[in-house]
Amino acid sequence: MTINRMKLRDIFDNLELSCDKFEHYFGLYERHLGRFVGKSPMILEIGVQFGGSAEMWNKYFGKGTFVYGVDISPQCNETNYLKLLIGDQGSQEFWMENFSGMYKYFDIIIDDGSHNNPDQITTLLNCYNLIKDDGVYWCEDTHTSYYFNVRVSDGGCKNKDSFTEFAKNIVDVLSSNHAKEAIGVGPFDGPRVPPILVSQFDNIQGIHFYDSVIVIDKGPRLKFSRIIHKKKV
Ligand SMILES: C[S@@+](CC[C@H](N)C(=O)[O-])C[C@H]1O[C@@H](n2cnc3c(N)ncnc32)[C@H](O)[C@@H]1O
Repeated sequence: MTINRMKLRDIFDNLELSCDKFEHYFGLYERHLGRFVGKSPMILEIGVQFGGSAEMWNKYFGKGTFVYGVDISPQCNETNYLKLLIGDQGSQEFWMENFSGMYKYFDIIIDDGSHNNPDQITTLLNCYNLIKDDGVYWCEDTHTSYYFNVRVSDGGCKNKDSFTEFAKNIVDVLSSNHAKEAIGVGPFDGPRVPPILVSQFDNIQGIHFYDSVIVIDKGPRLKFSRIIHKKKV
């Protein structure tokens, strides 16, 4: 199979449909999603709007790419690589009704929807099980975690209900070999990680925080096991 080596930024500049991105996302997409080029990935994108980003994924990843696009309002047409699902990402019922049979179905999930903190959290919690092992969860425009009383709810610096603060708990889950009290083991008076994260995110390898983007690598937890190579005498 021919692998498409065209730069995502060049693809963006030549899209037929409208697409809305921040400039620094392109390098990050290539860093975290580049390994799916030529691998016919199944993608779930929340917030497809005019269809430009789905067109971009199809052109970037190549033949066999398929996008399930969720949006609260229909603003583009379905194509041979795009299936539309109209619904509210903040609704638990929407996820249960439409995706409950799709366990480990997607290689990549991208949340570019409402950017509202409760919706981002609901989406992550409902969608994480839909990602294959070795897949990627991507949430963008997370600067709305810092919006205070503007456009979104539960934002504001250090608001524990913002998506960014919620995601920071995952760092403690990843470190639970060394901080068992954070995940509820043993006596501890301090704040603990929400139990739902402890159960959901045992299957997580890493989390990456960037300006406005949070990326989670799915996969069995990396083994914490020390090995020492002794110098030959
Ligand atoms: C930033 S735009 C998506 C841009 C598109 N991905 C692109 O790159 O061109 C956000 C989209 O999310 C949709 N949206 C807003 N609230 C939503 C919700 N609660 N559930 C699902 N989609 C929502 C909007 O209708 C809009 O089309």
